[in-house]
Amino acid sequence: MGLQMRKVIKNIKQLVTPVNKKYAVKDDAKKLDIYENVNLIIENGIIVDITTKEAEANEVIDATGKVVLPAFVDPHTHIPFIGSREDEFNKRIMGKTYMEIAAEGGGINSTVRSVRNATFDELYEAAKKDLELMISFGVATVEMKSGYGLDLENEIKQLKVIRKLQEEYHVDIKSTFLGAHEIPLEYRGKKEEYIDLVINKMLPTVKEKGLAEYVDIFCEKGVFEIDDTKKILTAAKDLGFKVKIHADEIYPLGGSELCAEFEAVSGEHLVKIKDEHIEKMIDAGCVFNLLPATTFFLMSKEYAPARKILDRGGIVALSTDLNPGSSYTHSIQMVMVIACLNMGMTMEEVINAVTINGAHSLELSDKTGSIHRGKQADLVILDAPDYRYLVYNFGVNRIEKVIKKGEIIFQ
Ligand code: NIG
Ligand code: FE
Repeated sequence: MGLQMRKVIKNIKQLVTPVNKKYAVKDDAKKLDIYENVNLIIENGIIVDITTKEAEANEVIDATGKVVLPAFVDPHTHIPFIGSREDEFNKRIMGKTYMEIAAEGGGINSTVRSVRNATFDELYEAAKKDLELMISFGVATVEMKSGYGLDLENEIKQLKVIRKLQEEYHVDIKSTFLGAHEIPLEYRGKKEEYIDLVINKMLPTVKEKGLAEYVDIFCEKGVFEIDDTKKILTAAKDLGFKVKIHADEIYPLGGSELCAEFEAVSGEHLVKIKDEHIEKMIDAGCVFNLLPATTFFLMSKEYAPARKILDRGGIVALSTDLNPGSSYTHSIQMVMVIACLNMGMTMEEVINAVTINGAHSLELSDKTGSIHRGKQADLVILDAPDYRYLVYNFGVNRIEKVIKKGEIIFQ
């Protein structure tokens, strides 16, 4: 291997990584490996060594006094979208609920109007800005989804925007089809017809065009209920999609049980998950993908039972849920703070959740999510003396550089 390909991040005050290369659970979730005063060697974008020895390289990044961590993974966003809903935000502050606003034709359907009215290029430009903002907070692996088109043409438009971002950006992006995100206004009172459209037209088209790896659904009272979810996910699995579910977010409908039944890669939200369903999801190997910024932004006091899930041995990931309605933040660091302060997760559990467990939930932990030999050099350099500043020094972005496969993508 030529010297040209070799990079070193030198004099790192504190290099922090999950202990486990695949996922962090039970005792491993409480731990991190910490190396002090080391150099990190990268060849061809891959981590090759952590050493205290002097290392030769043609490119040197000085990390004196700084912290290096794996770049963060955000396994649940609603990019691409366009338009904003600050008017609804004000209404919520005045006491209206998210579901009341949705019932009036606002909520998800308001963003659906904006997305349908946007050209491909407008939607792409909006998504690009969102992605760049996310990267600036330390994220280098992201999941994105459709769900604001709710007709064939516009769902495909969204998924094609994701494909273009995959092609143009030096980050790993996973794509999810969420045609069953809401019942579009033109199908109100005709839910069965919309489900038919999703199953018979949208799913086969998305599959044929290879535009998504996962199928997700908003399984919620008054939206897609248990039987609807079963129908759609059965069709999705028959076509060869892997699945995930927005489950038990607002009402304890039992979507979490379906996560286990359908062997979902992850269950999302899970605020109202029942104890017996926690066990079922653990047995099925599903990731518990918690989105506490949504709870915070919806001004609810009830968070997902992270402590219970962790103590029983669940694999916990954390995401922004970035969307213009229920969680308008690009900052995975904000999520980390809320997870510590409002869900009782330790800083170590939170770091594991936003690195290795996020990577595992996107089936990318062989490539990213920890600093181990053979993995991609996906890293953040933090201008702080200790990794705990990520949460302790809240509301401040101390990211100095974001590195993906050895290349600086933000500084
Ligand atoms: O994950 N719950 C459903 N979907 C999103 C909200 C989308 C929106 O309000 O636009 C969520 O919270
Ligand atoms: Fe969501």
